[in-house]
Amino acid sequence: MKEQRSNFSGKMGFILAAAGSAVGLGNLWRFPYLAAQHGGGIFIFVYLILVVTFGFSMLIMELAIGRKTKQSSITAYTKLNKKFGFLGVLAAIVPIIILPYYCVIGGWVIKYMIVFMSGQGKAAAADTYFGAFTGGTIEPLVFFVVFLLATMAIVLGGVQKGVERVSKILMPVLLILTVGISVYVATIDGAWEGIKYYLWPDFSNFSMSTVCAAMGQLFFSMSIAMGIMVSYGSYVKDDIDLNGCVNHIEIFDTAVAFLSGFMIVPAVFVFQPDKLNTGGPGLMFATLPLVFEKMPFGQVIGAVFFVLVLLAALTSSISIMEAIVSMVMDKFKMKRWMAVVGVTAFSVVLGIPSAWGFGLWGDVKILGMDFLTFFDFVANSILMPIVALATCILVGWVLKTKTIEEEITKNGEKFARKGIFHVMIRYIAPVFLIMILVFYTLAQFGLVKY
Ligand code: PHE
Repeated sequence: MKEQRSNFSGKMGFILAAAGSAVGLGNLWRFPYLAAQHGGGIFIFVYLILVVTFGFSMLIMELAIGRKTKQSSITAYTKLNKKFGFLGVLAAIVPIIILPYYCVIGGWVIKYMIVFMSGQGKAAAADTYFGAFTGGTIEPLVFFVVFLLATMAIVLGGVQKGVERVSKILMPVLLILTVGISVYVATIDGAWEGIKYYLWPDFSNFSMSTVCAAMGQLFFSMSIAMGIMVSYGSYVKDDIDLNGCVNHIEIFDTAVAFLSGFMIVPAVFVFQPDKLNTGGPGLMFATLPLVFEKMPFGQVIGAVFFVLVLLAALTSSISIMEAIVSMVMDKFKMKRWMAVVGVTAFSVVLGIPSAWGFGLWGDVKILGMDFLTFFDFVANSILMPIVALATCILVGWVLKTKTIEEEITKNGEKFARKGIFHVMIRYIAPVFLIMILVFYTLAQFGLVKY
């Protein structure tokens, strides 16, 4: 008997699950810092233009590929064109690399949430705290596994009862917390100067590398080229208006990124202005605890903040695990539970180097990078742009964009940006993707600054 493919119950479930994937650590620890560093309002403006053109086209393309083929990425590309089987394999490697180290970081988030919730947030403000924690042996490993098991528990529930149900609860909560903290931060003395710093267009900080940084950020933020959106597309029923859904997903993702800036930039501006140039883990696990230490009610805000971060990270990690699980199920015709258990076990093993890369195995460097940074670099800066580029060539030049346009409009839906989509996928996105590939690779080795 052929098992029926899982699907999302309807539009809302799909939008929130996809938004759950898109809204992740990138929105919280990277967007605010990039915007503040790269010209404020002008960065945000460029980012917005890219969202509705580049991001839109890439996202709808992946979703449509999934829905058209009813396959996850490992088998979807071959189904579209036999010569593109290699693309399925490349696309499969991306989430397999990302899941373990993303869960290692998820583990750090759990640790900080517990620290703040138990009223010990002030300890986390010490200079050495983060290094001592990540340099440990037991804790980083335990928290990593806990986060991975939480992800596993949700994915085990399946598409509707796991991913969709959890996203429907967590995403609205996440949005409320983000708005709540932003409003609170705006009431702090001096916050308006910080808001101005975040939003004021400063052309002197604007350059070509700003545009590259914005493109790369957008690309990551929309969970493109990770196999996720192809899988999610394959779960979308045929009568759902993909175009309309993509608009909502974009708005959700961009709104949370934009709001994160209101949470983070003014707070850092007021309490830790010398740290305005940190992003990523440094911002989240070193600068923000310092900020919370000085902020009125900072310990409470800190606890709420790390709950929010955990929700964002969890809804992203379930999407990436789901992408792998759906590939294993499609390729090996395996049952869900078997695939989930297998993927989890594999991820524990693959995550260990990242978990220990700052302590026990801290001496091992690959091209000068610790394990986590190396995995992140290979997936994000190398493989993802290549996968996306090959997808553009497949859709734009081999199949022609019409195949995808037909999938999007098959029930007579409106596709207002069809022209943009066509030009983007055939001509512009490939150039952007090559720029991302080159720029981020050079940046990793310190050859360009951004
Ligand atoms: N969009 C996600 C983010 O901003 C990217 C991501 C999704 C990363 C899923 C890992 C897993 O964090």
